[in-house]
Amino acid sequence: MNLPLFSSYLFIPSLFLLFIFCLVDLASCQFSVYRILPKNQQDFRIIQNLYKNATEYDLNFWKTGKDKHSFWDVMVDAKNENFLRQFLSNHTISHIKTITDVESLINRHEKSANTSFSRRLFDDSNSAHYDFHTYGSYQRMTDWLKQLVVKYPKLVQYITIGKTTEGRSIDGVEIGGDSRTKKIFWIDGGIHAREWAAPHTALFFIHQLTSRSNEPGIKKLLDDITFVIVPCLNPDGYEFTRSSSNPHVRLWRKNRSKMQCRKDIWGRNRCCRGVDLNRNFDFHFRESGTSDDPCSEIYQGSGPFSEPESRAVRDALLSARYKGRTEGYITLHTYSQIWIHPYGHKKDAYPGDIKDLYEVGKKAANALKRVYGTKYIVGSGADTLYPASGGSEDWAKHEAKVKFVYLLELRPDEKNWDGFILDEKELIPTARETWEGVRVVAEAVVERVQASKTATPREAPKARGFRFGDGTEGSCFDIRHACKRWVQEREELCKTVPIFMRENCAYSCSFC
Ligand SMILES: *[C@@H]1O[C@H](CO)[C@@H](O)[C@H](O)[C@H]1NC(C)=O
Ligand SMILES: *[C@@H]1O[C@H](CO)[C@@H](O)[C@H](O)[C@H]1NC(C)=O
Ligand SMILES: *[C@@H]1O[C@H](CO)[C@@H](O)[C@H](O)[C@H]1NC(C)=O
Ligand SMILES: *[C@@H]1O[C@H](CO)[C@@H](O)[C@H](O)[C@H]1NC(C)=O
Ligand SMILES: [Zn+2]
Repeated sequence: MNLPLFSSYLFIPSLFLLFIFCLVDLASCQFSVYRILPKNQQDFRIIQNLYKNATEYDLNFWKTGKDKHSFWDVMVDAKNENFLRQFLSNHTISHIKTITDVESLINRHEKSANTSFSRRLFDDSNSAHYDFHTYGSYQRMTDWLKQLVVKYPKLVQYITIGKTTEGRSIDGVEIGGDSRTKKIFWIDGGIHAREWAAPHTALFFIHQLTSRSNEPGIKKLLDDITFVIVPCLNPDGYEFTRSSSNPHVRLWRKNRSKMQCRKDIWGRNRCCRGVDLNRNFDFHFRESGTSDDPCSEIYQGSGPFSEPESRAVRDALLSARYKGRTEGYITLHTYSQIWIHPYGHKKDAYPGDIKDLYEVGKKAANALKRVYGTKYIVGSGADTLYPASGGSEDWAKHEAKVKFVYLLELRPDEKNWDGFILDEKELIPTARETWEGVRVVAEAVVERVQASKTATPREAPKARGFRFGDGTEGSCFDIRHACKRWVQEREELCKTVPIFMRENCAYSCSFC
């Protein structure tokens, strides 16, 4: 999940205190999840305040609500459960318990991870096959990538883009041979540790591009594009979340930076580690949806690019090898089923070529849906979730100047109650449908390459004949988040400024 709300504290507590507590009394370690349903603006504000103090009560918000119409999901341990229930009851805020025991859910849905909790230090499954039915260790992922280089020497090259604090190397592959002029299509996953389906999905793309590289559809992509895929950007965090089925560990979001301490509202010293890497990029750094509290889930770090993982992405994209060649950038997250385009730092903020991004995003979401009917929303992060600054996708668009930039929030949809604990049964379907969407973006890159090859010098690149609200399927939509509000407040706008409104608010004005 990418983006919690406003600038204040969120969660991750004194993990270590909690550990000691759990060791002493195992029963008290049971974690449950509550869904909180505000009924009005006042409820919404009370929940917002609770969210700001989440660190104090060891509350782990899985999902934040953006307004009084949306619900919140929060994980709480047994120690703080009474407080939460009382607090909500005292304020007569509706809530239901959606999960009674998170750990047993983890054990049911992530069975293979459970066995590897104990096996992770000597996982030796060094084979040319990758078992896509299960969540794999980082070691298993990189072993498989190394095998691919041996199996497809002309196609695949192994790359290392940096090193984490704990000394793991951040690895990936280039797929597309040794051309140094083809366009680059960058894909990464796993910047947030607990979002396990993301690295898996990135690996599945690698599988598609290599095992099917001779099929015409894939070959056509590889003729013009070199894919650079780094499946797991935050391997320290990923391995940490795999190291125990204790929900505090499994649901860890950040990297594993060194301990930072600060006084809480009662003057106690609290020490936490980890930075939300997707707040650490240098784009409107620290402006919205981030926190200065090192204990917060959305702690942005001490400064832009303070973290080696985010620096690794920056340095790769700006390297002589990739700079000026990168036309596609996709970063994989879970969950909510949203196909997100820039920008995310505030509402109604878009890059100049938003129409291209929106059109291709919509097409991609439609292609994804055709596979199993999975529905995605298309929009900016700020419009669909909440504003959050310092995200890698915004930085890639604005600073690295990549054409097609998207952040995908994969399955399940946000109404689903088990969120991050996606059942292994859904892993391959998730990856497969997402691949169909990503292909659409890659095809758009190829189309641009072809157009620039055939364009005669004086001729502008061929106009695409697309117009908002032109009546074709999927074309009736608002380009601006604010349309609905505008039209609600001043219905006559559709008539008084028809050209602007047709361009921007075709849906809300019922122009199509
Ligand atoms: C959160 O903390 C603020 C002070 O920082 C306090 O005014 C507020 O009542 C607290 N809210 C909750 C839910 O504890
Ligand atoms: C709820 O209300 C009761 C009675 O007024 C009070 O004793 C208790 O501290 C309150 N609990 C919370 C968590 O607000
Ligand atoms: C693995 O799952 C079993 C139940 O299937 C559970 O009893 C055990 O504690 C789990 N092991 C770990 C390390 O979580
Ligand atoms: C995470 O962030 C810290 C900065 O707080 C950094 O020093 C550390 O190297 C990062 N952790 C990893 C695993 O790279
Ligand atoms: Zn995320």
